[in-house]
Amino acid sequence: MHAPLARDFDRFGLGLPRDVAAHVREAYGIDLTARYLGYTLPHPIGKGSGQLSLNPDQLETDREAGLAFVVLKTVIAEDAAGERTMGAWAIHETKMRVEPRRSAAGRDGWTVTWKGRGWDRSFDDYLALVRTASDLSRDGAMLTVPSVKYHLPTLDEPFREAEYRHTTLCLADAWGAGDLPIEKDFSPTLAGDPLADERTRILRWLREVPGQIREAAGSTPVRLALKLMNARFDDEFQHEMMAAAEGVDAVVCFNRLWDPAGRVAYGGWDLSERNLRVLRSQRAGRTRPLVGTGNICSGRLILDYARAGCESVELHTFFQLPLAEYPAAAGSRTQRALHALFFHPEDGLVAGMLELERAGVAHRKGGELRFLDLCEPSQ
Ligand SMILES: Cc1cc2nc3c(=O)[nH]c(=O)nc-3n(C[C@H](O)[C@H](O)[C@H](O)COP(=O)(O)O)c2cc1C
Repeated sequence: MHAPLARDFDRFGLGLPRDVAAHVREAYGIDLTARYLGYTLPHPIGKGSGQLSLNPDQLETDREAGLAFVVLKTVIAEDAAGERTMGAWAIHETKMRVEPRRSAAGRDGWTVTWKGRGWDRSFDDYLALVRTASDLSRDGAMLTVPSVKYHLPTLDEPFREAEYRHTTLCLADAWGAGDLPIEKDFSPTLAGDPLADERTRILRWLREVPGQIREAAGSTPVRLALKLMNARFDDEFQHEMMAAAEGVDAVVCFNRLWDPAGRVAYGGWDLSERNLRVLRSQRAGRTRPLVGTGNICSGRLILDYARAGCESVELHTFFQLPLAEYPAAAGSRTQRALHALFFHPEDGLVAGMLELERAGVAHRKGGELRFLDLCEPSQ
């Protein structure tokens, strides 16, 4: 398989095949089928919520490139009068710096330094984006998912139900018929906020937020993912957070780390090492579908997250690198990123799956190696 893979790597550097997953299946006998929120995806690679999913042009570029799914930028929940308890998260900040970052263990990676937070335009503008996104999902062109930061109370406060209700009902209306997919964001800036100082408060949010959202949606069925933060506590607390997130359809593990000195979120190898360590150490006990995020910069990293239980992955930083960092010579950043993630002869998803087969870790069924088999606890 080495020669065909080297050939594909070279030729697809000028443009990916229209249906990458079909090509990989045909050429290598690898079934990349993945899952997010119970939706079946052609492959596991999606885009995490952020500055790269703010407008219809970005969505169109990603559809064209062949991404499996895109999570829209996080909007801050509001009530019918436009009141937002989490309004401090709707900061306008355009400047992003993509920078090299060396991890504590000395590995060189990338991070994006940015002081902004949630969606900073009007809620109506967000609903317009949701309508476009819903059309793309309905066509089967690419799954899209709105993301929300809802009110999070202190222990002695109630949830602001009016914000939950208004935001969720407006999203359901903009989305149209069928299940409404939502990712609820618990962000790194929240992890760094005094609001997240107390463990019991965080665990209450995780236990009660899913019910609040479903209740707010009324008769609209919601497929709900919670995107968990890296709290400023130990690994065991990450496990407690995962266990507390009952009644959800997926758990996204875990958003970026918080640097209290610089007051910024960061990624790179510190992030993937922490995330994978936490995921691996709770694997046998996990009960909910998992989605990985954090420093996914190669097919190998996708496989590491898969083998720690993740049925799909959400990337952000790897879609923002300087063009010279991608081996492809043409295409959008998303296309160039996908080219490296799928076909890199040493670090790509195809190369990695074939290596797992050679090592006796992955086994063909009906002649095919299946990505989702890797997520099973027995693997
Ligand atoms: C500039 C920037 C903005 C982001 N904004 C959001 C956001 O609004 N909501 C959210 O859930 N995650 C947000 N994220 C987190 C990403 O979706 C992703 O989960 C995280 O960066 C880890 O993946 P990565 O290492 O591939 O970047 C943001 C990340 C970056 C770099």
